[in-house]
Amino acid sequence: MVEFGSFVGYTATRMGRAVELCYEKGYADGSILFEDSRLQGANRITSMEIDPVHACIARHVLDMSRLSHIVEVPDAASSSSGSEVWIGQVKDLIPRLIEEHGEMSLNMVFMDQRGTTFHDDLSQLEELSLMFPNCRIVADNCVKPGSPVYCWHTTVSERYKTTNYSLNEFLESTIEDWQVVCDYLGPLAGVPAAGRPSPWEAPRGEEWRSYPIRDLR
Ligand SMILES: C[S@@+](CC[C@H](N)C(=O)[O-])C[C@H]1O[C@@H](n2cnc3c(N)ncnc32)[C@H](O)[C@@H]1O
Repeated sequence: MVEFGSFVGYTATRMGRAVELCYEKGYADGSILFEDSRLQGANRITSMEIDPVHACIARHVLDMSRLSHIVEVPDAASSSSGSEVWIGQVKDLIPRLIEEHGEMSLNMVFMDQRGTTFHDDLSQLEELSLMFPNCRIVADNCVKPGSPVYCWHTTVSERYKTTNYSLNEFLESTIEDWQVVCDYLGPLAGVPAAGRPSPWEAPRGEEWRSYPIRDLR
């Protein structure tokens, strides 16, 4: 999964621990028998942060929590050590996800950067086919400061099954904000069968059809 906007690593730490517990339980009860070979040696969570001071603090917090083997906050200039938080703008770092983890490598995205860029960043994830079908996308603070284009796109597009949750702002009981949670149904969702490209015309080749088609409808 990927987090856009690490700040000081609070959510990355919470999610990292949840992932660690999940693996511990899976190995103990036998529900995880072996790792997907594509994941071996890779981090489970990549977090991106534009501010290098925030990123350094996040890395330190993750190190102290003994979670740096799960959460990656890497440095754009460093080699892929797989034990840090990526520093830079989300829009510039998204292509690196393809290089390091490949297409359809995302099962969850947490959008917590500047809300006005949510739609552009989501569009880049779609264009690069980074999201696996049923990838869950959670976007915070969608009303204040707000991400109107993103809310419109995820609510109207048939590629997403979306729920908009109205919540109180953190520690502010009088301020309403939205958390938008959606599942990406795949690039063919909502395209009528008649309008779908023929196999030989499909822009993305064979790979999409080889995933469970029933999930894409
Ligand atoms: C709300 S905080 C993130 C909080 C964090 N996700 C958590 O829950 O603990 C937003 C962070 O996003 C970073 N940020 C804003 N725009 C960004 C961008 N375009 N690329 C990368 N980071 C960005 C800010 O520097 C800030 O640290």
